[in-house]
Amino acid sequence: MEGLIKERLPRHVAIIMDGNGRWARQKSLNRIEGHIKGIEAVRAVVTSCRELGIKFLTLYAFSIENWRRPGNEISALMGLLQRYLREELDEMLENNIRLKAIGDLDSLPRDAHDMLIETVEKTTHCDAMVLILALSYGGRDEIIRAVRRLIVDAKNKKIRPDQISEETFPNYLSTKDIPDPDLLIRTSGEYRISNFLLWQMAYTEIYVTKTLWPDFRKEDLIKALLNYQRRQRRFGLTSEQLAMEPG
Ligand code: IPE
Ligand code: IPE
Ligand code: MG
Repeated sequence: MEGLIKERLPRHVAIIMDGNGRWARQKSLNRIEGHIKGIEAVRAVVTSCRELGIKFLTLYAFSIENWRRPGNEISALMGLLQRYLREELDEMLENNIRLKAIGDLDSLPRDAHDMLIETVEKTTHCDAMVLILALSYGGRDEIIRAVRRLIVDAKNKKIRPDQISEETFPNYLSTKDIPDPDLLIRTSGEYRISNFLLWQMAYTEIYVTKTLWPDFRKEDLIKALLNYQRRQRRFGLTSEQLAMEPG
């Protein structure tokens, strides 16, 4: 499999799909054309991850900050989301892919929101891969909302302060039951996190490629995975300690 070591594939890959606007500008097209082209990359990456056996794939599709973009761009993106969901449902079912969504979903337009929830519900039985769409997502927003729920539980005596830990807190996040990302890929050469999965990426390996998102294909994914497999994840330990660990 292209030199990849199957046993050492990341369990969870997260992607900041960036560069649609620049892709369009380079071709003297409207930004929206870049987003339309971006969907082809989404399809290619979902299919490739499923084929490779990656268990969790999170795609940053729309950030909470993206609401500040021009209205016509936001409407186009919401329309594309609906089109994607409509066109991909059968593919997801056929390939046993479960859809999940994270973010402030209530702020999505009603029709996009309803179609999203419907697709999520229709794929709950699928278990070969989980595809997580981050929509109206902000890492800080997610943490704040977790804290709010935690305080309500504490008030209702469902949790005591001494029970709040690095193990229990993630249960209040929208990524509950999803392992932390092992690998973050960001396209279009930008070295920043842009408010993505702040809690979850404490020890995620980061890979940045100059490739713009609409051009990203299986070969680019494989390159990122090969690069990931060459790294030593130390989690604070020394290389010597890791060399002594079994396995
Ligand atoms: C990423 O591409 C898609 C979204 C943020 C929705 P951009 O639209 O950010 O593209 P650039 O960064 O302007 O090139
Ligand atoms: C991050 O891209 C969000 C998504 C890919 C959905 P942006 O293009 O919005 O990020 P910044 O503004 O360059 O940090
Ligand atoms: Mg961008």
